[in-house]
Amino acid sequence: MLIDGFNREVDYLRISVTERCNFRCQYCMPDKPFSWKPKENLLSFEDMFLFVKAGIDEGIKKIRITGGEPLLREDLDKFIKMIHDYDSSVDLALTTNAYLLPKVAQKLKDAGLKRVNISLDSLKPEVAKQIAQKDVLKDVLEGIDKAIEVGLKVKINMVPLKGINDNEIVDILEFCKQRDIEVRYIEYMENAIAKDDLKGLYGREILTQIERKHIVSKIGRIGSSPSFSYKTKDGYKFGMIDPHKHDFCETCNRIRLTAEGFLIPCLYFEDAMSIKEAVKNKDIQKAVEILKIVLKNKPEKNKWSEDDTETSSRAFYETGG
Ligand code: 5AD
Ligand code: SF4
Repeated sequence: MLIDGFNREVDYLRISVTERCNFRCQYCMPDKPFSWKPKENLLSFEDMFLFVKAGIDEGIKKIRITGGEPLLREDLDKFIKMIHDYDSSVDLALTTNAYLLPKVAQKLKDAGLKRVNISLDSLKPEVAKQIAQKDVLKDVLEGIDKAIEVGLKVKINMVPLKGINDNEIVDILEFCKQRDIEVRYIEYMENAIAKDDLKGLYGREILTQIERKHIVSKIGRIGSSPSFSYKTKDGYKFGMIDPHKHDFCETCNRIRLTAEGFLIPCLYFEDAMSIKEAVKNKDIQKAVEILKIVLKNKPEKNKWSEDDTETSSRAFYETGG
């Protein structure tokens, strides 16, 4: 079992397999020209897998693959299969923008993937295009349908933004309700990278909109999830992630690995330690040692705040959120 310095059990590993993305969502990507880190810096799936195996042996039970956009990385299905073959009880999930999902959903499911979280911020082609800065809606909708069709458990993420997609909160709920998939509304988290003038909605404001159309009751937080669950009178369940009001630090059970091999104990801290050399040298003991140091130093609480002074400058697309 992996226990951190504040007696929290850490059993959830998030792996960003690439920082690259085929979208340029305004809340995630830089507004100004930028360049990606060189591909040579990437950890190979073989090297990542060495770490994953050690993590599972130590007590990791849930793994989420993130990006950037993870489907940009070739052979992702093989990586998923490696993990699944090693321990089929690991809860294997993926966060994706779904643009490339129609072609690979079946392959991923066959490899052992169980769940996908898909970003869907608008049902209007022009608005989806404005947010992602690319004409994406048709492919994303196909991706969602395909994921459902092959039997993956699908959840939708929506980030409501003032004056952009905040009039679609109920529409997205209806869309998901019809397909019997859960939507989770995520408050826009201000960060040093995103477009300057973006304004998000608070969880309370999002709920108010839903309550104009539905009678909503609280369910509660399930396990260590940052999402608070609600249900409508007719039994549809949806979630809200509202970091402006709640931090989830007390029950935090997660640790993150970046595509370049940095272990990150907390999304909102600059600290990180690299396991790259250790896995390249096949020195698993060393990698586990580093994992334990990172856990020992995992902060008790995040330092994130709305004003820029304490906002981490690490981009979401590097850590997969
Ligand atoms: N605020 C809130 N959510 C974000 N995401 C990315 N950037 C932000 C941000 N600044 C979330 C989106 C997307 C997932 C990959 O990360 O919900 O679905
Ligand atoms: Fe890409 Fe996801 Fe960031 Fe959008 S939120 S730019 S899809 S990594």
